[in-house]
Amino acid sequence: MQWSRRRDSIASPACFPSREAGVSPSELPATPMMKQYLEIKRHYPDAILFYRMGDFYEMFLEDALVASSILDIALTSRNKNDEHPIPMCGVPYRSAQGYVAKLIERGHKVAICEQAEDPALAKGLVKREVVRIVTPGMVVEEGLLDQSAPNYVLAVYPEKSTHGIAFLDISTADFRVTEAEALHAVFEEISRVAPREILLPESIRDAGRWAAFLDGLSGILVSRLPEADFDPIANRQMLCRHLGTVSLEGYGCEHVHAGVAAAGALFRYVESTQKRPLDHITRITAYSLSDELILDDATCRNLELLRNLRDGGKQGTLLDVLDRTVTAMGARLIRHWIRHPLRRVETIDQRIEAVGEALHAPTTRRSVREHLKQIGDLERIASRIALDRCTPRDFLALKTSLFALPELYDLLKTCESPLLQEARNTDSLEPLLALARLIERAVREDAPPTLAEGGVIRRGFDAELDALIDTGSHSKEFLLALEVQERAATGISSLKVRYNKVFGYYIEVPKSQTEAVPAHYVRKQTLVNAERYITDELKQFELRITGAEERRIALETELFHRLRQTVCDHIPEIQTTAAFLAQTDCLFSLAEAADLYGYCKPEIHLQGNIRIEDGRHPVIERFLPPGRFVPNSIELDDTRNQVLIITGPNMAGKSTILRQTALQVILAHMGSYVPAKNASIALTDRIFSRIGALDNIAGGQSTFLVEMQETANILNNATPKSLIILDEIGRGTSTYDGFSIAWATAGYLHDLQGKGVKTLFATHYHEMTELERIKPRVRNFSIAVKERKDEIVFLHKLHKGGTSRSYGIQVARLAGMPESVILHAKSVLRDIEEGKHSFTGSTKPALTIGKPVVQQLSLFEPDTHPVIERLKSIDVMNMTPLEALNCLHELFMIVMKGNSE
Ligand SMILES: Nc1ncnc2c1ncn2[C@@H]1O[C@H](COP(=O)(O)OP(=O)(O)O)[C@@H](O)[C@H]1O
Ligand SMILES: [Mg+2]
Repeated sequence: MQWSRRRDSIASPACFPSREAGVSPSELPATPMMKQYLEIKRHYPDAILFYRMGDFYEMFLEDALVASSILDIALTSRNKNDEHPIPMCGVPYRSAQGYVAKLIERGHKVAICEQAEDPALAKGLVKREVVRIVTPGMVVEEGLLDQSAPNYVLAVYPEKSTHGIAFLDISTADFRVTEAEALHAVFEEISRVAPREILLPESIRDAGRWAAFLDGLSGILVSRLPEADFDPIANRQMLCRHLGTVSLEGYGCEHVHAGVAAAGALFRYVESTQKRPLDHITRITAYSLSDELILDDATCRNLELLRNLRDGGKQGTLLDVLDRTVTAMGARLIRHWIRHPLRRVETIDQRIEAVGEALHAPTTRRSVREHLKQIGDLERIASRIALDRCTPRDFLALKTSLFALPELYDLLKTCESPLLQEARNTDSLEPLLALARLIERAVREDAPPTLAEGGVIRRGFDAELDALIDTGSHSKEFLLALEVQERAATGISSLKVRYNKVFGYYIEVPKSQTEAVPAHYVRKQTLVNAERYITDELKQFELRITGAEERRIALETELFHRLRQTVCDHIPEIQTTAAFLAQTDCLFSLAEAADLYGYCKPEIHLQGNIRIEDGRHPVIERFLPPGRFVPNSIELDDTRNQVLIITGPNMAGKSTILRQTALQVILAHMGSYVPAKNASIALTDRIFSRIGALDNIAGGQSTFLVEMQETANILNNATPKSLIILDEIGRGTSTYDGFSIAWATAGYLHDLQGKGVKTLFATHYHEMTELERIKPRVRNFSIAVKERKDEIVFLHKLHKGGTSRSYGIQVARLAGMPESVILHAKSVLRDIEEGKHSFTGSTKPALTIGKPVVQQLSLFEPDTHPVIERLKSIDVMNMTPLEALNCLHELFMIVMKGNSE
């Protein structure tokens, strides 16, 4: 091929200073090919163009510079002697997938440009066109996807006072829309969805809050689409047309105006990248944020729901404990359930009921799970088939999965719960089984991974194909017979009839016997010891064989595509079945966890209280020997026990109690059983958590600023129906600042909207226990430790009342600090407690450790202290949290000044 002869020189990247990489098209040698290249590239300026040339995809110019360095492949030049050499690099067509994956991983888009006609037949330059654009969110190939996580592309559209949000996983056809008013809610929802790619209209400029938010995202591709792509009316019509409906009412989307605008833009984008109809997208689901218990990103991280803080892995997460799913679809769905707990009593109860039923039927459960194991990833198989990116093995997996259904449905038929009743609908099974039988008749069990070489269609499926295959397999007999015949005719006993890829069929005669070769033998090739010939008869045979082979592959391809089309017609049913199976897998997985770990059935209600009897931490208890985790009871309500201040020394178990309470509430809202003896849980709208800086170092965010941002988010967005856990807030700054922030925050939450919000507040500032005296719904709790001489024993048991000691020195000893340091620390502590030494370094006692009350209380006693005067001038109800903090700081400065005078 002409091109490959020119692929000669390996130039070092230094030959192409960036100025040259950006050679303007007018400066380039205007070969027809380069013209074609530039014309195609013009339409895909933001993608790396893979330009197909024979067995390679070539990249040129800037694309070549970028790709060669990412892919670590040689950068060459197309015309190195020219004034403007054109940088280029290439990857073999057969192994392109891995290279594409690498570029995608680095946030690039790749446009795949193929030859659109057979080069052998083309007159002049081969026509080429882009057949698909691969972006991080547009991947469907099995090897490129994490099978237990979704792969979403998300679009946002701001419209008047609201924002439409739509997202789609093209590999599963999961397509959802919603709306959020406030920008922070939009950002939260984006974080929850965790898309690989975000689409925004041009009008959202990179300014202000969007810029800050987008900056904080890493590894997510953000693309801008023209405003017109978001046209709400046109998009609604287009979606109706695609779904074959007159309105979007049936999908609950009719009123989701901005959401549909975003969904339409997203759909157009996906269509433009796939360049084929998206037949597998058969539904769109509208949901409301008010139907879910909202967990912001920080809370999800802090509670280690899906990823641990240590290395971001699954180990030690709630997911790890709960995920007993056996299908890929179930594995993805249970993540979704954890991240999106429900907020409607009826839907939660339905799940709890089904989990209970599965729990109490262990034999059925075991069989159901065994049967589920045979089921492949129907959602993704269906998508690959619809997008024509499937392999013969996808069909085999589909067949096996469908054949497993009747027995599975039989087992489930006995279940009473509404969520499992779909299994009684065996009528829906018949068309799918017919499909499975068709696949069984059509596809060979040992089909190769691709269609390219044929060998996919089973014998007996198509008579013509069988005949063609027979021609091929009879060829051996023919060649043997020919050999015998020619030996006899020529008398050359060592004559052989053979085949090789380069020369095709030939007759080989050793040099010593060539005299006996008849005249009609035509010489084809000369070797050192032999001559090779062809005869008319052998040539005829060869034509017949190759013709049959070509026809066979063409016919197999055609049959395979017809089969694909038949499967496509059933995609909606396959998807419905897949959804039911995924849900069943999750329900049984929750039942399995409940059984394995001894969980109880929670009660979800609309009253305001949360009562957990003997609750445990689902993850920590798994790391301890059986029975070693100390259960704790907790009671929260809106009347007396609203803000619980939990004190106790380090390592006592404060963080554990906080987290386990939040986890129980999440579990109950997902419809799971919970690790407790009894649990009665108020329907909750949001859970917020703030984990003190030092506890969160693993998250890489130990700055005080982040701590304050998260706290501000809580104060600004909590409602009386929320649950808040605050763990050691204020720890990331000086003691005075920290304490004053903790104090002000707890007070603010107690007074929130005149009602207060349920809060668990763990702190090592014992002074916080004073709050109980002045706020009616604050209660003190502490975690018991037993003192034995200088030693302490952690009991991990929560009980009423505060603690006045921190036992820090004892903990230091436990940790193995040198005895001399321990002794020194003790004497300093004694001095401070006796007022001889201040822990700020000054000689006068400041806020004393161990005896906080004296100084703290004086703040609130009726007196004419300047602090009281200042306090009287404050309008607490109309202060922002920040003003409150500033004011507190001011108050403390007054006190401090008073102390040092
Ligand atoms: N209820 C409990 N039963 C058994 N061990 C516990 C319990 N609570 C905590 N622990 C153990 O104590 C360790 C420290 O608990 P943590 O909650 O981090 O303490 P704190 O926040 O008070 O410093 C935990 O990692 C766990 O191993
Ligand atoms: Mg802690």
